[in-house]
Order: sequence, then structure tokens, then C-alpha cells
Amino acid sequence: MKILVTGAQGQLGRYVQQAAIGSEDRYLFTDREELDITDRAAVARFVQAEAVDVILNCAAYTDVERAEEQEREAYRLNAEAVEYLASAARERGALLIHISTDYVFMGGCCALLTEQSHPQPINAYGRTKLAGEELITQSGCHFQIIRTAWLYGAYGKNFVRTILQRSLEQPKLRVVNDQIGSPTFAGDLAEAIVANITARNFTEGIFHYTNLGECSWWEFAVEICRLAGRTTTVEPCRSEEYPSRAKRPANTILSKDKFIRTFQRPIPHWRDSLKKMIDAL
Ligand SMILES: NC(=O)c1ccc[n+]([C@@H]2O[C@H](COP(=O)([O-])OP(=O)(O)OC[C@H]3O[C@@H](n4cnc5c(N)ncnc54)[C@H](OP(=O)(O)O)[C@@H]3O)[C@@H](O)[C@H]2O)c1
Repeated sequence: MKILVTGAQGQLGRYVQQAAIGSEDRYLFTDREELDITDRAAVARFVQAEAVDVILNCAAYTDVERAEEQEREAYRLNAEAVEYLASAARERGALLIHISTDYVFMGGCCALLTEQSHPQPINAYGRTKLAGEELITQSGCHFQIIRTAWLYGAYGKNFVRTILQRSLEQPKLRVVNDQIGSPTFAGDLAEAIVANITARNFTEGIFHYTNLGECSWWEFAVEICRLAGRTTTVEPCRSEEYPSRAKRPANTILSKDKFIRTFQRPIPHWRDSLKKMIDAL
């Protein structure tokens, strides 16, 4: 089986590359240089010429702050280009595995968000990601949409790497304590996706995948510093004290029941995965 991976140099894409080592499937790893997904003709050509069976889309516009001023550019990548991938998948009869986000939700209340919960994004990034989901579901292609949240790993720009760096430079950090979510180690998500491909577990639909458990950004930062042996003081603060262009949902805990039930795969707790990642650094 041939699997096209787009955005393969991003943080999730790089863990997919690791997870696929030793696979008997043929993975074609591409990033913008090899395959610009905003080029409709190039996408269609690639998928047909390479006789792709599965498209795993790890490419995205992920800068939540910048998206507020560049919603058009974000839409081009997170929606229009996703529609190109969906069309190419439909034409070829391939499966599109697409990664989406908890930011499609408003996330105001305390209830667990399931795949049936009503999406209502409150920022530009969330709007463009939801538009991408809608274009896939309307396209008629075979698809899995996997919504994840608070993704981190050893590569790229993410919260864990920022806290590890800032805690070296500053004796005291202030981190917001009123946004709750579930951190997700990109390596866990990558392994789960590759395991599903290897097992040919291609059940279609929308699924939620984050690590188990929940915390605020402040609790997350405290745990990062503790595990890394940093003596930095981490103080909690409120979102209003932290000026940002994009509104952030207050509470986006995704229910993982459907993913676990469908794919029969346990999901690690965020504390265990964070320890694994920091120990490996
Ligand atoms: N990061 C999070 O906290 C988070 C949370 C929830 C969901 N997600 C979703 O998870 C997925 C993976 O996120 P990530 O953090 O791994 O993203 P990332 O690190 O920003 O990687 C995205 C990759 O896409 C590439 N790319 C950009 N424009 C492209 C184009 N026109 N054609 C082909 N590739 C292009 C980027 O290349 P350049 O570096 O050259 O731009 C980069 O390698 C995304 O769908 C994201 O929305 C992320």
C-alpha cells in the first residue's frame, strides 16, 4: 500500500516518519518543496501518478495568532488545499486521513466534547480548520478526520519546548490557569495513525484523539519544569493578563471513547507521555 504524507517535516509529520520505520507499506514523505498542497493540479497529478492508496495530511497553517490577521492564507491551506486532497482521494478511491483540532469548538462548558458535539469556532484558525472538515465531508471521498489538541514533541514550535527554553532564561514564569485541555504527544498520535494503517483499520468518520487526562496550561508548565528538574517558579495567571490576538476556548476536553472503541488501542495519559518525551531529550 502507498501512503502519501504531506507536511512531513512538521512536528506530527516527523513523528509519522519515525513511526513508519520498518513498515512494509511504502510511505511517500513530502513537504511544501516536494508537494505544495495549495497547487490543485500538482496534488491531483501526484496522487494519480504514484497510485496513492492513503493520503495522510499533516500539512496545515498552524499559527493561531497570525491566522487572525491572515485568515485568507490560513483558509487557503486549511480549507481550499484540503479540498484538493479530498478531490484527489475521491478520484483515486483513496482514503484521506486528515488532522483537525479542538479549536473547532467554542469550549465554554465543562462537558466532554464528543464527535457529535456542535462545532463553533471562536478564532480564525478554528474557522479555517472547521471549513476544511466540512469540505472533506461534502467531497464524497473516504475519510478519517482526527481532531487532536495541544500537540507537542521534540520538533518545531510548541508549548513544551517554549517552557523548557524560557525556564532556562527566566527565574519566574507566568502561565494561564483558566484554559483547560489535554496535551497530546505527537509521537503517540503518529504511532496510533500508523498502527491503524498497518492494521488496515480504515473505519471512516470523525474521531477525537488526545492523550488521556486534562490540565490547565499552568499545570502543564509546572509538570514540564518538574520533570526537567528546573527550579523556575511557575505562577498561575488569568487569560486577560496575557494579551493575545486570538480568542482561545476555555475548556476543550475531547472524549476519546469512539477512537478507543473503534481502533481497540489504549491511549497513554499525558503525564506518562510528557515524561517519556522529556526523558528522551
Ligand atoms: N500544534 C498544535 O498544537 C495542534 C493542535 C491541534 C491540532 N493540530 C493539527 O495537527 C496537524 C499537525 O500540526 P503540526 O503542529 O505538526 O503542524 P506544523 O508543525 O506547523 O507542520 C505543518 C507542516 O505543513 C507544512 N506546510 C505548510 N504549507 C504547506 C504547503 N502549502 N504544502 C505542503 N506542506 C505545507 C509546513 O511546512 P513549513 O514549515 O515550510 O511551513 C510544516 O512542515 C495540523 O493539521 C494542525 O492543525 C495541531
